[in-house]
Amino acid sequence: MSYSIQAISVSLKAFRSAFLDFIDDPFYASEADSVRYFSDGLLVLEDGKVKALGTYEDLHEIYADVSVTTYPDRLILPGFIDTHIHFPQTEMIAAFGEQLLTWLSKYTFPTEGKFKDKAYAQEIASFFLDELLKHGTTTALVFAAVYPQSVDAFFEEASRRHLRMIAGKVLMDRNAPDFLTDTPETAYAESKQLIEKWHKHDRLLYAITPRFAVTSSDEQLRLAGKLLAEFPDVYMHTHLSETVKEVALVASLFPESDGYLDVYDRAGLVGSKSVFAHGIHLTEAEFQRLSEAQAAIAFCPTSNLFLGSGLFNLTKAKSADTPIKVGLGTDVGGGTSFSMLETASEAYKVTQLRGENLSSFQALFLATLGGARALSLEDTLGNFEPGKEADFIVLDPRATPLMARRNATASATSLAELADQAFATIILGDDRAVHATYVMGELAYKNKAYEPVAA
Ligand code: GUN
Ligand code: ZN
Repeated sequence: MSYSIQAISVSLKAFRSAFLDFIDDPFYASEADSVRYFSDGLLVLEDGKVKALGTYEDLHEIYADVSVTTYPDRLILPGFIDTHIHFPQTEMIAAFGEQLLTWLSKYTFPTEGKFKDKAYAQEIASFFLDELLKHGTTTALVFAAVYPQSVDAFFEEASRRHLRMIAGKVLMDRNAPDFLTDTPETAYAESKQLIEKWHKHDRLLYAITPRFAVTSSDEQLRLAGKLLAEFPDVYMHTHLSETVKEVALVASLFPESDGYLDVYDRAGLVGSKSVFAHGIHLTEAEFQRLSEAQAAIAFCPTSNLFLGSGLFNLTKAKSADTPIKVGLGTDVGGGTSFSMLETASEAYKVTQLRGENLSSFQALFLATLGGARALSLEDTLGNFEPGKEADFIVLDPRATPLMARRNATASATSLAELADQAFATIILGDDRAVHATYVMGELAYKNKAYEPVAA
């Protein structure tokens, strides 16, 4: 008996605070059926995974021997999931004055050329991952650069931090500078080697990553599709219908295709593990096809506004007729922030400009369980269901003097109060609202101003 009590206290740990997560999609289910909230809850972990979540009152006696870290007046959420971001673009964020195609040639391509140097790629990957953790993002779907060593650098740094990350080498064999292009054959061979090296190594997963139809030949896309068929559980990650000029260019480059999505479809690149960034200028038939294929869209509002690309039709994507899996993406460096709170805030504004709306629960769903579903990871993470990986964040809804005035009560006691507090946290919050980030139950980032209380 004493042995089992000792064993329990060693392998289990617990956190006491307010908890918010999602057990269903608030775009389709009612708030009462989709939002789970405990104003005074206990999260119990075993070996980095969730063992139980409930009210403190219900659980504390069952786990009386377990050491508890208490976060008073905080709100614990599953870690944020960024479904589209470019790590080599970290240093070129906020590049002035251009729209997509000129922005790419003027700023992006020269910057990505630096990632041929593995040591440089490693330095930026390390900085990038620390930024993600500081902003509460624990999982991301990431573009590396065209060089395989940029992927190695990224995965080595992600592995050191025990993160669940998805990434891939960019495929580009035309309409880009020579120093950034591969060929259909080298793209295939290098991607295959990287899949064999990294896919399912620790928590890492691989995405076959053609940049977009503009920079890949038919043959390169065909070989990418062949590779995906050989490794059906890897991801496919690309851009789709981001700007009007790009859509027109793709039509001229692929005259035989029946639209932009069809270029990818003909190559076998549209499936349930395909994630398309943007999807702003889609036709009805393309919405239908994405829905039928169970493919996902990464909605990247800060990028779409910054590059002047357009206003994503979230309502259409989440309609019951053509339901599409949607996650939020920061799209750094086309996007202007690493913060998923700021990204959710801009998503709200995009829906406003379309005369529509996005509730705080819908926005936080997109940033957590919705993102997990978009990445087919809903069985692994995204909420606090038992058995899931315990990546989570401790938010402070009163992090700044202004937020403290707006969120006058520390812990919400009703769903309506919580919705209001969460909305103000989304609109006013950024990395200052992230007080701690945990990866597999271990503290991975702590806001310097804050010490947890050990009970
Ligand atoms: N389309 C092709 N490449 C890119 C990129 O790097 N960023 C964005 N936002 N769109 C792209
Ligand atoms: Zn992008």
